[in-house]
Amino acid sequence: MSQKDFGPIAADYAFFMQSATEAEADMESHLVEIRLRFGDTRPICLLDVGCGEGHFLSELLQRFRIPATQLSLQLVEPVPEHLATARQRLREFSTESIRDWSGIEQVPTGSCDIILLNHSGYYVEDPGRLIEQVVAATRSQGMCIFALADGQNALIKLWKMGFGSAGLPVPYWTADDYRAILKERRLDFIEKTVPYEIRFPDVPENRLRLLRFLFADHLEKLDTEFLLSAFDNDRRDGQVLIPTVSTHFIVRN
Ligand SMILES: C[S@@+](CC[C@H](N)C(=O)[O-])C[C@H]1O[C@@H](n2cnc3c(N)ncnc32)[C@H](O)[C@@H]1O
Repeated sequence: MSQKDFGPIAADYAFFMQSATEAEADMESHLVEIRLRFGDTRPICLLDVGCGEGHFLSELLQRFRIPATQLSLQLVEPVPEHLATARQRLREFSTESIRDWSGIEQVPTGSCDIILLNHSGYYVEDPGRLIEQVVAATRSQGMCIFALADGQNALIKLWKMGFGSAGLPVPYWTADDYRAILKERRLDFIEKTVPYEIRFPDVPENRLRLLRFLFADHLEKLDTEFLLSAFDNDRRDGQVLIPTVSTHFIVRN
Protein backbone atom coordinates (compact mmCIF):
# COMPACT_ATOMS: atom_id res chain seq x y z
CA MET A 1 0.00 0.00 0.00
CA SER A 2 1.56 3.27 -1.03
CA GLN A 3 0.57 6.89 -0.80
CA LYS A 4 -0.94 8.76 -3.72
CA ASP A 5 0.95 11.75 -5.13
CA PHE A 6 -1.49 14.68 -5.17
CA GLY A 7 1.00 16.99 -6.96
CA PRO A 8 0.23 15.90 -10.55
CA ILE A 9 -3.54 15.58 -9.93
CA ALA A 10 -4.01 18.91 -8.11
CA ALA A 11 -6.35 20.33 -10.82
CA ASP A 12 -8.44 17.12 -10.91
CA TYR A 13 -8.70 17.10 -7.12
CA ALA A 14 -9.78 20.78 -7.21
CA PHE A 15 -12.47 19.80 -9.76
CA PHE A 16 -13.77 17.10 -7.42
CA MET A 17 -13.82 19.54 -4.49
CA GLN A 18 -15.81 22.08 -6.55
CA SER A 19 -18.23 19.39 -7.70
CA ALA A 20 -18.93 17.79 -4.31
CA THR A 21 -20.61 18.93 -1.11
CA GLU A 22 -18.28 16.57 0.75
CA ALA A 23 -16.09 19.26 2.37
CA GLU A 24 -19.10 21.28 3.56
CA ALA A 25 -20.75 18.19 5.07
CA ASP A 26 -17.49 17.01 6.71
CA MET A 27 -16.82 20.44 8.16
CA GLU A 28 -20.28 20.80 9.72
CA SER A 29 -19.85 17.42 11.38
CA HIS A 30 -16.29 18.13 12.62
CA LEU A 31 -17.37 21.49 14.07
CA VAL A 32 -20.14 19.81 16.09
CA GLU A 33 -17.62 17.33 17.56
CA ILE A 34 -14.93 19.94 18.21
CA ARG A 35 -17.35 22.37 19.87
CA LEU A 36 -18.73 19.58 22.07
CA ARG A 37 -15.27 18.97 23.51
CA PHE A 38 -13.56 22.35 23.08
CA GLY A 39 -16.42 24.83 23.50
CA ASP A 40 -14.48 27.06 25.91
CA THR A 41 -11.46 29.16 25.04
CA ARG A 42 -8.69 27.00 26.48
CA PRO A 43 -5.53 26.77 24.34
CA ILE A 44 -5.69 24.08 21.69
CA CYS A 45 -3.00 22.38 19.65
CA LEU A 46 -4.41 21.03 16.38
CA LEU A 47 -2.57 18.68 14.00
CA ASP A 48 -3.84 18.21 10.43
CA VAL A 49 -2.42 15.07 8.81
CA GLY A 50 -2.62 15.30 5.00
CA CYS A 51 -3.63 18.98 5.06
CA GLY A 52 -3.16 19.47 1.30
CA GLU A 53 -3.03 23.18 0.49
CA GLY A 54 -4.85 24.01 3.72
CA HIS A 55 -8.21 24.99 2.18
CA PHE A 56 -10.24 22.68 4.37
CA LEU A 57 -8.51 23.58 7.65
CA SER A 58 -8.57 27.32 6.99
CA GLU A 59 -12.33 27.23 6.34
CA LEU A 60 -12.86 25.13 9.46
CA LEU A 61 -10.80 27.52 11.62
CA GLN A 62 -12.64 30.54 10.23
CA ARG A 63 -15.89 29.00 11.43
CA PHE A 64 -14.50 27.73 14.75
CA ARG A 65 -13.36 31.28 15.64
CA ILE A 66 -10.72 30.39 18.22
CA PRO A 67 -8.45 33.39 19.02
CA ALA A 68 -5.05 33.15 17.30
CA THR A 69 -3.36 33.46 20.71
CA GLN A 70 -5.08 30.25 21.85
CA LEU A 71 -4.24 28.04 18.88
CA SER A 72 -1.09 26.23 17.86
CA LEU A 73 -0.96 24.34 14.58
CA GLN A 74 1.01 21.34 13.37
CA LEU A 75 0.88 19.94 9.84
CA VAL A 76 1.84 16.79 7.96
CA GLU A 77 1.66 16.93 4.16
CA PRO A 78 3.86 14.90 1.78
CA VAL A 79 3.61 17.26 -1.25
CA PRO A 80 6.17 20.01 -0.44
CA GLU A 81 4.52 22.75 -2.57
CA HIS A 82 1.13 22.01 -1.02
CA LEU A 83 2.62 22.14 2.47
CA ALA A 84 4.22 25.52 1.68
CA THR A 85 0.87 26.87 0.42
CA ALA A 86 -0.91 25.52 3.51
CA ARG A 87 1.63 27.19 5.84
CA GLN A 88 0.98 30.56 4.14
CA ARG A 89 -2.79 30.13 4.14
CA LEU A 90 -2.95 29.11 7.81
CA ARG A 91 -0.52 31.73 9.18
CA GLU A 92 -3.25 34.12 10.28
CA PHE A 93 -4.87 31.56 12.60
CA SER A 94 -2.05 31.29 15.13
CA THR A 95 0.35 33.73 16.74
CA GLU A 96 2.80 30.84 17.15
CA SER A 97 4.83 29.64 14.21
CA ILE A 98 3.30 26.58 12.54
CA ARG A 99 5.23 23.33 12.97
CA ASP A 100 5.36 20.74 10.26
CA TRP A 101 6.57 17.16 10.27
CA SER A 102 7.43 14.78 7.49
CA GLY A 103 5.38 12.06 9.20
CA ILE A 104 3.07 11.47 12.15
CA GLU A 105 5.81 9.37 13.83
CA GLN A 106 7.77 12.60 14.44
CA VAL A 107 4.97 14.33 16.34
CA PRO A 108 5.85 14.50 20.06
CA THR A 109 3.86 12.14 22.30
CA GLY A 110 0.83 13.74 23.96
CA SER A 111 1.30 17.07 22.17
CA CYS A 112 -2.04 17.50 20.35
CA ASP A 113 -5.60 18.18 21.50
CA ILE A 114 -7.19 17.56 18.11
CA ILE A 115 -5.78 15.43 15.31
CA LEU A 116 -7.62 15.68 12.01
CA LEU A 117 -7.24 13.24 9.13
CA ASN A 118 -9.69 14.51 6.56
CA HIS A 119 -9.74 11.99 3.70
CA SER A 120 -6.00 11.30 3.96
CA GLY A 121 -6.09 7.93 5.75
CA TYR A 122 -6.59 6.03 2.48
CA TYR A 123 -3.04 6.68 1.39
CA VAL A 124 -0.86 5.80 4.39
CA GLU A 125 1.45 2.78 4.47
CA ASP A 126 -0.01 1.09 7.52
CA PRO A 127 -3.30 2.25 9.10
CA GLY A 128 -2.68 0.18 12.27
CA ARG A 129 0.59 1.99 12.93
CA LEU A 130 -0.98 5.31 11.97
CA ILE A 131 -3.78 4.79 14.52
CA GLU A 132 -1.20 3.91 17.19
CA GLN A 133 0.87 7.01 16.41
CA VAL A 134 -2.18 9.27 16.27
CA VAL A 135 -3.44 8.01 19.62
CA ALA A 136 0.06 8.43 21.13
CA ALA A 137 0.30 12.02 19.86
CA THR A 138 -3.10 12.94 21.37
CA ARG A 139 -3.27 14.52 24.84
CA SER A 140 -5.54 13.16 27.52
CA GLN A 141 -9.06 14.57 26.88
CA GLY A 142 -8.11 15.09 23.25
CA MET A 143 -9.70 13.66 20.12
CA CYS A 144 -8.78 12.31 16.68
CA ILE A 145 -11.15 12.70 13.76
CA PHE A 146 -10.84 10.37 10.77
CA ALA A 147 -13.00 11.28 7.75
CA LEU A 148 -12.95 8.45 5.22
CA ALA A 149 -15.29 6.49 2.97
CA ASP A 150 -16.33 2.86 3.23
CA GLY A 151 -17.64 0.26 0.79
CA GLN A 152 -21.07 1.93 0.48
CA ASN A 153 -19.44 5.13 -0.90
CA ALA A 154 -19.77 5.62 -4.69
CA LEU A 155 -16.07 6.46 -5.14
CA ILE A 156 -14.91 3.38 -3.23
CA LYS A 157 -17.23 1.33 -5.46
CA LEU A 158 -15.46 2.89 -8.47
CA TRP A 159 -12.05 1.97 -7.00
CA LYS A 160 -13.22 -1.62 -6.55
CA MET A 161 -14.73 -1.73 -10.05
CA GLY A 162 -11.69 -0.13 -11.73
CA PHE A 163 -8.93 -2.08 -10.01
CA GLY A 164 -11.04 -5.27 -9.89
CA SER A 165 -11.69 -5.25 -13.65
CA ALA A 166 -7.90 -5.22 -14.19
CA GLY A 167 -7.42 -8.04 -11.69
CA LEU A 168 -5.67 -5.69 -9.25
CA PRO A 169 -6.28 -5.17 -5.52
CA VAL A 170 -7.32 -1.64 -4.47
CA PRO A 171 -3.98 -0.13 -3.36
CA TYR A 172 -5.63 2.19 -0.81
CA TRP A 173 -7.28 1.70 2.58
CA THR A 174 -10.94 2.41 3.28
CA ALA A 175 -13.09 3.16 6.32
CA ASP A 176 -13.86 -0.57 6.49
CA ASP A 177 -10.18 -1.26 7.26
CA TYR A 178 -10.08 1.49 9.89
CA ARG A 179 -13.32 0.32 11.52
CA ALA A 180 -11.94 -3.21 11.85
CA ILE A 181 -8.67 -1.98 13.43
CA LEU A 182 -10.42 0.41 15.84
CA LYS A 183 -12.74 -2.41 16.98
CA GLU A 184 -9.96 -4.97 17.26
CA ARG A 185 -7.92 -2.59 19.44
CA ARG A 186 -11.00 -1.77 21.53
CA LEU A 187 -10.49 1.96 21.14
CA ASP A 188 -13.21 4.29 22.38
CA PHE A 189 -14.73 5.69 19.18
CA ILE A 190 -17.98 6.79 17.63
CA GLU A 191 -18.92 6.39 13.97
CA LYS A 192 -20.98 8.83 11.92
CA THR A 193 -22.41 8.52 8.41
CA VAL A 194 -22.29 11.91 6.69
CA PRO A 195 -24.28 12.34 3.44
CA TYR A 196 -23.05 14.48 0.54
CA GLU A 197 -23.43 14.64 -3.23
CA ILE A 198 -21.24 14.91 -6.31
CA ARG A 199 -22.68 16.89 -9.22
CA PHE A 200 -21.05 18.09 -12.43
CA PRO A 201 -22.02 18.86 -16.05
CA ASP A 202 -21.97 15.58 -17.95
CA VAL A 203 -19.22 15.95 -20.53
CA PRO A 204 -16.50 13.32 -21.10
CA GLU A 205 -13.70 15.59 -19.83
CA ASN A 206 -15.46 15.99 -16.48
CA ARG A 207 -15.92 12.24 -16.10
CA LEU A 208 -12.23 11.85 -16.91
CA ARG A 209 -11.24 14.48 -14.35
CA LEU A 210 -13.01 12.51 -11.66
CA LEU A 211 -11.28 9.31 -12.77
CA ARG A 212 -7.84 11.00 -12.79
CA PHE A 213 -8.45 12.26 -9.23
CA LEU A 214 -9.54 8.78 -8.13
CA PHE A 215 -6.98 6.59 -9.85
CA ALA A 216 -4.05 9.00 -10.39
CA ASP A 217 -1.10 7.26 -12.09
CA HIS A 218 -2.89 3.88 -11.97
CA LEU A 219 -5.44 5.06 -14.58
CA GLU A 220 -3.17 4.17 -17.52
CA LYS A 221 -3.25 0.49 -16.44
CA LEU A 222 -7.07 0.42 -16.31
CA ASP A 223 -9.89 0.26 -18.85
CA THR A 224 -10.73 3.97 -19.06
CA GLU A 225 -13.65 3.54 -21.52
CA PHE A 226 -15.30 1.06 -19.15
CA LEU A 227 -14.80 3.40 -16.21
CA LEU A 228 -16.14 6.41 -18.15
CA SER A 229 -19.33 4.45 -18.80
CA ALA A 230 -19.72 3.77 -15.07
CA PHE A 231 -21.33 7.23 -14.76
CA ASP A 232 -24.12 6.43 -17.27
CA ASN A 233 -26.60 5.47 -14.55
CA ASP A 234 -25.97 8.74 -12.68
CA ARG A 235 -27.08 11.04 -15.56
CA ARG A 236 -29.81 13.56 -14.63
CA ASP A 237 -30.74 16.39 -17.05
CA GLY A 238 -27.27 16.85 -18.54
CA GLN A 239 -25.55 16.45 -15.15
CA VAL A 240 -23.91 13.59 -13.35
CA LEU A 241 -25.51 13.45 -9.90
CA ILE A 242 -24.22 11.00 -7.28
CA PRO A 243 -25.66 11.02 -3.75
CA THR A 244 -23.25 9.26 -1.39
CA VAL A 245 -21.79 9.29 2.15
CA SER A 246 -18.57 9.72 4.10
CA THR A 247 -17.77 7.76 7.25
CA HIS A 248 -16.30 9.56 10.26
CA PHE A 249 -14.59 7.97 13.24
CA ILE A 250 -14.09 10.12 16.33
CA VAL A 251 -11.58 8.54 18.69
CA ARG A 252 -11.44 9.96 22.19
CA ASN A 253 -8.38 9.78 24.42
C1 LIG B 1 -8.05 13.87 -0.49
S1 LIG B 1 -6.74 14.90 -0.03
C2 LIG B 1 -7.39 15.70 1.42
C3 LIG B 1 -6.75 17.04 1.71
C4 LIG B 1 -7.35 17.79 2.91
N1 LIG B 1 -7.23 17.04 4.13
C5 LIG B 1 -8.79 18.13 2.64
O1 LIG B 1 -9.67 17.59 3.31
O2 LIG B 1 -9.05 18.94 1.75
C6 LIG B 1 -5.57 13.75 0.65
C7 LIG B 1 -4.32 14.39 1.18
O3 LIG B 1 -3.55 13.36 1.85
C8 LIG B 1 -2.18 13.57 1.53
N2 LIG B 1 -1.45 12.30 1.71
C9 LIG B 1 -1.15 11.35 0.79
N3 LIG B 1 -0.43 10.37 1.36
C10 LIG B 1 -0.27 10.70 2.65
C11 LIG B 1 0.39 10.08 3.76
N4 LIG B 1 1.03 8.93 3.63
N5 LIG B 1 0.36 10.73 4.96
C12 LIG B 1 -0.29 11.90 5.11
N6 LIG B 1 -0.94 12.52 4.09
C13 LIG B 1 -0.94 11.93 2.89
C14 LIG B 1 -2.22 14.05 0.09
O4 LIG B 1 -1.02 14.66 -0.33
C15 LIG B 1 -3.41 14.99 0.13
O5 LIG B 1 -3.05 16.29 0.51
